Amino acid sequence: MLIDDVAGAVLREPPIFPPSAAFSAQAAISGMDAYRTLCAEAERDYEGFWGRLGRDALTWKKPFSTVLDESRAPFYQWFKDGELNASYNCLDRHVEAGQGTRVAVIFEADDGTVTNVTYQDLLQRVCRFANALKKRGVQKGDRVVIYMPMSVEGIVAMQACARIGATHSVVFGGFSSKSLNERLVNVGAIALVTCDEQMRGGKALPLKNIADEALAMGGCEAVKSVIVYRRTGGKVAWHDGRDVWMHELMQAESDQCAPAWVGAEHPLFILYTSGSTGTPKGVQHCTGGFLLWAAQTLKWTFDWKPSDVFWCTADIGWITGHSYIAYGPLALGATQVMFEGVPTWPNAGRFWQMIERHKVSLFYTAPTAIRSLIKLAEADIKVHPDSFDLSSLRILGTVGEPINPAAWMWYYEHVGRARCPVVDTWWQTETGGHMIAPMPGATPLVPGSCTLPLPGIMAAVVDETGQDVPDGQGGLLVIKRPWPSMLRTVWGDPERFRKGYFPDDLGGKLYLAGDGAVRDSETGYFTITGRIDDVLNVSGHRLGTMEIESALVANPLVAEAAVVGCPDETTGEIVVAFVVLKGPRPEGTEAERIANELRAWVGKEIGPIAKPKVIRFGENLPKTRSGKIMRRLLRSLAAGDEITQDVSTLENPAILDQLG
Ligand code: PRX
Repeated sequence: MLIDDVAGAVLREPPIFPPSAAFSAQAAISGMDAYRTLCAEAERDYEGFWGRLGRDALTWKKPFSTVLDESRAPFYQWFKDGELNASYNCLDRHVEAGQGTRVAVIFEADDGTVTNVTYQDLLQRVCRFANALKKRGVQKGDRVVIYMPMSVEGIVAMQACARIGATHSVVFGGFSSKSLNERLVNVGAIALVTCDEQMRGGKALPLKNIADEALAMGGCEAVKSVIVYRRTGGKVAWHDGRDVWMHELMQAESDQCAPAWVGAEHPLFILYTSGSTGTPKGVQHCTGGFLLWAAQTLKWTFDWKPSDVFWCTADIGWITGHSYIAYGPLALGATQVMFEGVPTWPNAGRFWQMIERHKVSLFYTAPTAIRSLIKLAEADIKVHPDSFDLSSLRILGTVGEPINPAAWMWYYEHVGRARCPVVDTWWQTETGGHMIAPMPGATPLVPGSCTLPLPGIMAAVVDETGQDVPDGQGGLLVIKRPWPSMLRTVWGDPERFRKGYFPDDLGGKLYLAGDGAVRDSETGYFTITGRIDDVLNVSGHRLGTMEIESALVANPLVAEAAVVGCPDETTGEIVVAFVVLKGPRPEGTEAERIANELRAWVGKEIGPIAKPKVIRFGENLPKTRSGKIMRRLLRSLAAGDEITQDVSTLENPAILDQLG
């Protein structure tokens, strides 16, 4: 196969999948020429380009006159003198345009019960809850932590904060009480919105109990209200005065609440994510730039049209659920599916059955989900996508981790029936929205590559001094110019923001993504080669090795611990911990018993997602003479690879046999 003129070059390597002529003809970006025209517009007049998008995509109470202010770089400001409200943009303007009866959310509960929520209904619920928050003393600029399951009420809570100018911080429902406590303290929350129990895979999990534990740990005495969504009616402890039922508060309130107009730079939310240190960082996003990109990327990457039914399977506790459930689709006035449960319950055909049932046309999920469903589908035709009517699908997307070509091909052939483009979207909590991804009506697809940057996104691969590396040679992935939905700072730690994302070594002006990448010399296509720092990606969940190490050494049995990732066919990576106990090195069943105890401990300290799959005990860890743990060596040991590194600097070579 020879496709001419892909991104200005010639691509020879099969397999490559160009969009069909019919697909391109109806797409917003209808071919590589249209894509290049947009890129050229951004190159030629960067501010003009973004200003046009900002005006077209959003409704402003006060129009902006400045597009980009670089005077405090890298603390960039976008549309800074403009005023708007995110909730107004997501709800009111559609209702005002006569779209009130349009379905905003098709909610499918764990047990299969379906509830349709219209834009009008959602607006009223958001207004009631916004009024309730105000009644509880929440004001513009206050922080509200949301520890909720996948629920319409979760969206209501987020949108209600946005409506009154409060800044929300959603904590994923799988995090432990300790993690929740750390986030409540760090963000300085004055209210917590949670739920009695969440339902997943037929099981009830006690969120309110965990929240109570988190609050009892102290440091968060500023939390005056705990607002509880009643999901199951399960028994919960109650602190009179502090705890209130969400439905009781809402019943008492009016369904009208004027939106608070805020500056474009006003913090919309803070979302914690893992970095290279033991403490998660609060990634702060703003209102205007974030909302613009959440909406615009859906139009481009998913070629969104009013007739589409969009379904993003991410949790609202992660950035994907913020950009592509709680804000982006609503800003467009889209109809979307939201799912409470898990893909394997009551069986592994659940996703395919839901696509068929709700006639989903745009489907967005994680490679890990695809890989685990492949295994189950290949073992049982009843849960195989081939057994379902998936003809409603138009575009398939993936996010969160690299997708291996074999999983890509299966997704393309069996879910998309070889007629739906697969968009592999590279982005991060920090970027707010898609950065490198195919445009489905334009970009010829290559399995395993996220292909080309979106128009206006100046991605590049550089060396450790910030110089461009030749195509075909690996390096550090950077973004050369600011973009509207970039993080604004790390909450409470601007130095961490500046040093971590705009490091002086690279000249202080390049945004360092933390991923390695290589750009193909013929096509210009990007392939992500994985993190360059101590961040792991397990099932698309981002975890810091240092966080897990801190959790392990907090256990009274543990003297030292080092955590590395090891490649895994299904989950991308698994967590492998090398542990030195204070007592003797355990063996046999004793080692297994202590390993289980430590796993449970990490589950309590951080959350079940961080539990090490493998724990190996040694009398020591491999260290250099200066005492530095040799992580590269540990990674080889974890993967069972032959040790090819230079071990001459290793203080204690005998340890390798023990840990191998
Ligand atoms: O390593 C990259 C990987 O996930 C990291 C970002 O994780 P998080 O902030 O949790 O956001 C996930 C959802 C956007 C990146 O630094 N990653 C994300 N998407 C891809 C990816 N790696 C390869 N290909 C992708 N499409």
